[in-house]
Amino acid sequence: MRKKIIAGNWKMNMTPSQAVELVNTLKPLVANEEVDVVFCVPAIDIIPAIEAAKGSNIQIGAENMYFKDNGAFTGEISPDMLVDAGVKYVIIGHSERREYFAETDETVNLKVVKAFEKGLTPIICCGESLIQREQGVTMDWIRMQIKIAFQNVTAEQAATAVIAYEPIWAIGTGKVATTEQAQEVCSGIRACIAEIYDEATAAAIRIQYGGSVSAASAPELFAQADIDGGLVGGASLKPDFGKIVNYK
Ligand code: PGA
Repeated sequence: MRKKIIAGNWKMNMTPSQAVELVNTLKPLVANEEVDVVFCVPAIDIIPAIEAAKGSNIQIGAENMYFKDNGAFTGEISPDMLVDAGVKYVIIGHSERREYFAETDETVNLKVVKAFEKGLTPIICCGESLIQREQGVTMDWIRMQIKIAFQNVTAEQAATAVIAYEPIWAIGTGKVATTEQAQEVCSGIRACIAEIYDEATAAAIRIQYGGSVSAASAPELFAQADIDGGLVGGASLKPDFGKIVNYK
């Protein structure tokens, strides 16, 4: 049985002092040991958020990292910096990084490989645009994203990965995918992992749905056979996140 993983993606929100306040507010509301609860926060908030989350079930994650160990890469955060700070999870290849910061499937793959090398669990994002969905190429597109993201990743590593399926048209729009649409793609992703690796790896990997997840939509989404939790943007900044974590 896969343990559900419900992650907040704070994006570019919350100053360090606001981060501490939000962790303290949410701490009692997300106390659910049955699921993994992760707050992916801006780099500058990581250390104060970890401090504030001590003694709770909240794990702090990063929203991005670079694929090199160290060096002349002004403005970037290295995986060792994250590990040393106490981070376990890192979002890789969010559609906003792909759209605004020129991330490609190839850099996503380099980051995924590096994350595993350093013992971090990547939350690997994939998803189609509205045009791609209308053109009927959703699954072709996502299979390509997945196949490239997992190049040079072993089955053992892949089994511990988290994939976030986030239709781009559903992110921050209030337009949540239907339960059927979300389940169909998540099941397709699992089949793709089975093709790349084997059934055991596909059965172990955790696949989240993301895109306008709310307290209202979470219960039905998370009840689907292939949806193992969610990556939550807007609603992760509000007390509503507690309801999402306690969706049952
Ligand atoms: P949203 O964001 O929940 O605000 O749609 C999800 C995400 O981008 O991870």
